[in-house]
Amino acid sequence: MNMNIYFAPLEGITGYVFRNEYNRLFSGVDKFYTPFIATKHTGKYSTKDLRDILPANNQNITIVPQLLSNNASDFNYLADKIADMGYTEINLNLGCPSPTVTTKKKGAGFLEYPDELDRMLDEIFKNASYHISVKTRIGVSDPTEFRKLLSIYNRYPISELIIHPRLLESMYNGKPNLDWYSYAYNNSLNNVCYNSDIKNVGDCDKITAMFNNTTSVMIGRGILTDPLLPERIKGDVSKEVSKRDAELEKIRKYHNGVYEAYVDYMSGDKNVLFKMKEIWKYLIENPVFNKDSADNFIEKNLKAIYKCNTVREYNEVVDAIFINAL
Ligand SMILES: Cc1cc2nc3c(=O)[nH]c(=O)nc-3n(C[C@H](O)[C@H](O)[C@H](O)COP(=O)(O)O)c2cc1C
Repeated sequence: MNMNIYFAPLEGITGYVFRNEYNRLFSGVDKFYTPFIATKHTGKYSTKDLRDILPANNQNITIVPQLLSNNASDFNYLADKIADMGYTEINLNLGCPSPTVTTKKKGAGFLEYPDELDRMLDEIFKNASYHISVKTRIGVSDPTEFRKLLSIYNRYPISELIIHPRLLESMYNGKPNLDWYSYAYNNSLNNVCYNSDIKNVGDCDKITAMFNNTTSVMIGRGILTDPLLPERIKGDVSKEVSKRDAELEKIRKYHNGVYEAYVDYMSGDKNVLFKMKEIWKYLIENPVFNKDSADNFIEKNLKAIYKCNTVREYNEVVDAIFINAL
């Protein structure tokens, strides 16, 4: 299928250490959107603030830096700096539902102030010498808010309007609202990209069948569960890997690669285990592990992984999961 697949930004998970390892082993992802960087009033950014997007940390990989901001001059300052590094697209986060962000009128919290958002967009588009894409939810507490939001987005040459069709209030619960995505698809003057709950090829086919001019989709958690998903959607999974044991071996290689990359990058077992536990939260849902369709398989194994306090315990639990899946 000739369609672009974007890896969604997942803060705490898809940083450059993970991203490079994933990209080394799998194909199918056209662009990786980075977890957000919050803009600052001071304009003082350390190497640490920016290390996730430094070109040296993202060789042979296409990334789109994402900014979290509600202030045009702060956005312009950092976006210009990022463009100087060679990036041609910058993404604005209007979707984050976390209270630490929304209470500061940022992420999806900024959707409650459409007039201010409009003014900010006006100033950032006037300044920009690069493409600006926007990742948005459909509103705060009522999907009809999206009428006004879309009329604002339509005033600007947004390179792609990536829509996670849930309300801020819904967080990640319930089903994505396809009626309002359909509204966006039919009324947006800019290209739209669908995001949320694509977990398998069938979910993706459903979206492309409903919205047949779809040229891109963004997937996050679905790839963490099935790292081969982008290759499957594009029909690129090699015959070798399509066999169960080869698939398991590839996932093992991926797991070990990410694990070792974190061991090299972080100090202390606790930090490495924290990162790996986040990955298992999604990976354990891959049906390849539950050979006998056992009841409570996910809960049981996640519990065992979460309980691990040392690398030795962790390796034992993980070995058992892979061996039992064979
Ligand atoms: C742990 C986690 C971290 C996330 N971090 C970000 C982020 O930094 N920026 C952003 O725009 N969205 C973020 N999101 C939202 C995802 O990018 C995506 O929109 C959402 O998970 C729905 O897509 P999916 O069902 O394909 O995962 C995050 C989601 C999760 C679960």
